[in-house]
Amino acid sequence: MKIPLTKPLFNLAEINAVKKVLASGWVTQGPITAKFERNLEKYINAKHVVVVSNCTNALHLCLLIGSVKPGDEVIVPSLTYIATISAIRYVGAVPVFADIDLKTFTLDPQATSNKITKKTKFILLVHQIGISADLDPLRSIARKNNLILIEDAAPALGATYKEKMVGQNGKFVAFSFHPRKSITTGEGGAIATEDDETYSRLKILRSHGSSISDYYRHKGKALNFEKFEVLGFNYRLSDINAAIGIEQLKKLPGWIILRRRLAKNYQKEFKRMSNLIPPFEPNYTRHTFQSYQIRVRGISSERRDELIQRLLRKNIATRRGVMASHLEPLYIKYPSQDLINTEIAYRESLLLPMYPDMTQLEQEYVVDSVKKVFAQMHL
Ligand SMILES: Cc1ncc(COP(=O)(O)O)c(C=O)c1O
Repeated sequence: MKIPLTKPLFNLAEINAVKKVLASGWVTQGPITAKFERNLEKYINAKHVVVVSNCTNALHLCLLIGSVKPGDEVIVPSLTYIATISAIRYVGAVPVFADIDLKTFTLDPQATSNKITKKTKFILLVHQIGISADLDPLRSIARKNNLILIEDAAPALGATYKEKMVGQNGKFVAFSFHPRKSITTGEGGAIATEDDETYSRLKILRSHGSSISDYYRHKGKALNFEKFEVLGFNYRLSDINAAIGIEQLKKLPGWIILRRRLAKNYQKEFKRMSNLIPPFEPNYTRHTFQSYQIRVRGISSERRDELIQRLLRKNIATRRGVMASHLEPLYIKYPSQDLINTEIAYRESLLLPMYPDMTQLEQEYVVDSVKKVFAQMHL
């Protein structure tokens, strides 16, 4: 048996949707992209959604629309994929790393407050591995200190915060459709916003700063000339990708149910293993289990890697948990005090296989192998 960590799931629905786009003669951002956006708005219950080429670019646009200036400080968790931090660097701003809550792997409100200086302009929180960050205290800190809140929800499409979808009621909420995420379009991303002006600016900035879209110009009966008043980017999503996204989104509610069922099975099996800490689901959120991240209490990074290696020998793919960006060579010179929980989470975490069509037999094999390897390593 060979068990992958995760896998994207496609069937004839996506294949036929792509065929239709190819036959239509319009393949880049056009009517299918617009339909994907309207469907995302309905799913998230957001006023507006703009889709773009990936989540990193989505974050870049949010920072620009928030009028970021070189030297502005952005408080951000170090425990995130490097792309969150890269977006901050693209605009010459300074990432200031704040620690996480060890149970949820998301930004700790007190640690965030402690990092505010006169130069702080943004809080960039991350809804990590399918759990919402604790939004209310972070929103309140942002409001009291006049800071702009950006939400990196790359791994959290479908997660909820206090009964509302992540992405509802935000000004800048960015999602990813990379193959490791809740749904995939190959590559892709989106921004949900409640703000009309942000919505208009996003549409202009994602397509070279053009005042009107190519599709609108081509389909119009009258002559329509575009104007370029601002520096824009090519961050468009194609209709080919969007067609895949529309089909994936229809399947997402069912996939979340399956992921939650798999997580419950894991939980039941692991609860008597004293050094294996299964994922925690706070009352305020519905966890989508986009990733199933466990911690092994007190393990060293060398022993964690040995654990991964031993599971690989049994044909089970696992991975180190979410990275700690401040430990990468690129950020080694950045201030990184008080990141105790981040370093524990990074050292002790690993991701176990999780994908909606995982069979009972596959899951039992993973559970059995994890138990055996834990026993062999005296964990
Ligand atoms: C937390 C987080 N932010 C941003 C990104 C970047 O997303 P994308 O690959 O769509 O640019 C990822 C993707 O892996 C991520 O996990």
